[in-house]
Parts: sequence; C-alpha cells; structure tokens
Amino acid sequence: MHVFQPVDPIDVDEGAFSFNGGSMLITAAKGDKVNSMTASWGGVGYIWNKRVVFIFVRDSRYTREFLEDSKEFSLSFLNQKEFRGALKYLGAVSGRNEDKIANARLNVNYDDGIPFIDEAGAVVTAKVLFRQEFEENGFIDNSLVSEFYKNGDYHYMYVGEINKILVR
Ligand SMILES: Cc1cc2nc3c(=O)[nH]c(=O)nc-3n(C[C@H](O)[C@H](O)[C@H](O)COP(=O)(O)O)c2cc1C
Repeated sequence: MHVFQPVDPIDVDEGAFSFNGGSMLITAAKGDKVNSMTASWGGVGYIWNKRVVFIFVRDSRYTREFLEDSKEFSLSFLNQKEFRGALKYLGAVSGRNEDKIANARLNVNYDDGIPFIDEAGAVVTAKVLFRQEFEENGFIDNSLVSEFYKNGDYHYMYVGEINKILVR
C-alpha cells in the first residue's frame, strides 16, 4: 500500500485555476461590441473526449448575452496585484452602461477572432459546447440555494472546448 497524505486545497496552486480565490476576466463579443467581466468560479477538465474549461455566469450578467451570441469566449489571467483595480472595476460595473474595458484602461486583442485582454499573462480561448441554467431542484445541499440564490438569478454553467492556450 502507498501512503497518502491529505492536502489542504488552499495549498494547491497550480495551473490556470487555483483554489485561492484569484479572479480572471471572461471576455466575449457580440457583433462589433466586446464585453468583459471578472469571475472567480470555474475550472478545467475533460469531458466528451475534449479538453474543456467551465465557467459560471449569472443570468443577469450582460456578458451572458455575448456568450449566447458568439458562442466563443476567452479567459484572461492578469497579475492579481498589478491589475487589482481593473479586476475590481470589471466585477462591479456592467457593460450595459459603458465601455468597461476602455474605462478600466485595458485593451482588447484577438486570436482566431476571439477577443481577449491584451494585458493578460495567460489566456485560454474556448468555444461553447454546452450551457445550462442551475435549477433549485438540482441542489442536494439546499443551504446553497438560500446562501447564493435568495433572489433567483441562477448561474448558467458554460462548458467551452479549449481552442488555444496563449502565454505571453
Ligand atoms: C472577484 C469577483 C468574482 C466574480 N465572479 C463571478 C462569477 O464567477 N460569476 C458571475 O456571474 N459573476 C461574478 N462576479 C460578478 C460580475 O463580475 C459582475 O456582476 C459584473 O459587473 C458583470 O458585468 P456585466 O454585466 O458587464 O457582464 C464576480 C465579481 C468579482 C468582483
């Protein structure tokens, strides 16, 4: 028998997604408009014989309209310290009312026609394969419903096939 040691998830800090509460920018296009929002929830994995990322976007987010329109998105990983203000801004303001990316002093770049944030150190571009809204009856732990969905506004899970991983 091998010996296994328990590891606190907080000590696992490798790869694009860590368990340490960092955030990324989800960016997508709708026609000639581009919008971006801060997100902390998501993961990488393997399903349908494809390498995928999955993200969780509440119904109310303007970015969701962009995901639905283009069915493509990018995840941009920026230095958390240097871009703390921008990450906070893009997570607080809606693109419905302004050009958030310009106002956060960030720039849009494109790869394979998919917009991403030029200031990122690493980028994942992806094509949406599947999306589904969470439903109350899907929750085994009902305390999550009262904690996170008091006013409805459930998340949609988007599973995107990884198109490219770009590193600066
Ligand atoms: C650190 C941080 C993490 C966030 N993570 C998520 C997330 O995973 N999913 C989500 O739907 N909203 C998340 N948000 C909230 C959105 O970024 C925020 O509502 C944003 O203003 C939406 O912009 P939009 O309306 O232009 O799409 C997060 C906000 C912050 C500050």
